[in-house]
Amino acid sequence: MIIAPSILSADFANLAADVKAVEEAGAKYLHIDIMDGHFVDNLTFGPNVVKALRPLSNLFFDCHLMVENPEKYLQDFAAAGADLVGVHIEATKHAHRVISKIHQLGMKSEIVLNPGTSIEFAKEVLPLVDSVLIMTVDPGFGGQAFLEETVSKIAEAEKYRKEHNLNYQIEVDGGINDQTIKTAKAAGATIAVAGSYVFSQNTPEEQIKKLIEASKQ
Ligand code: DX5
Ligand code: ZN
Repeated sequence: MIIAPSILSADFANLAADVKAVEEAGAKYLHIDIMDGHFVDNLTFGPNVVKALRPLSNLFFDCHLMVENPEKYLQDFAAAGADLVGVHIEATKHAHRVISKIHQLGMKSEIVLNPGTSIEFAKEVLPLVDSVLIMTVDPGFGGQAFLEETVSKIAEAEKYRKEHNLNYQIEVDGGINDQTIKTAKAAGATIAVAGSYVFSQNTPEEQIKKLIEASKQ
């Protein structure tokens, strides 16, 4: 599995050091949570932080946009050095157009589903995307508990992928630790985001190593 540490729980005063630590520990992705205070009840940062981190890291920058009308910001994220942009299907009226635009800008695309959104709602765009993010908590905050009821949706996304011979990755985000990562993997997830588990206990290096180990079992 690909481990994607989320900088939402990192030390913002020492962001460069935290990013370096997770890269050295074997993470391949860096999950960057963008919140606008409208789509979710929280504010984080924008493309300027992506741009500042870009020269410091070779990690794959996975930008999770929890914003209304994500189409407005795609160009800025591409210019900042994002490798992938994830847009919530609940946040745009034009998912197909947004995904096409992400590809035109040279980035990988991802469609994101809240816990309350069914796979059915995203079915038309599944053949177009590089990745599907199944939220395993309601988005907005780090440190929430993994919602067990999302596991069947991970399995559904994997079943649909196989049945239709599609190639998307299945990412999970929210409440991932050394136990829930195993549940998500067994259901079909291929990328695991982890925020508080990585940055809020011991060192990020130790925590990443534990996740890598757990995801191999
Ligand atoms: C939540 C964010 C997550 C968050 C996960 O809305 O999308 O990426 O950082 O945090 P944990 O791993 O603490 O649940
Ligand atoms: Zn996220």
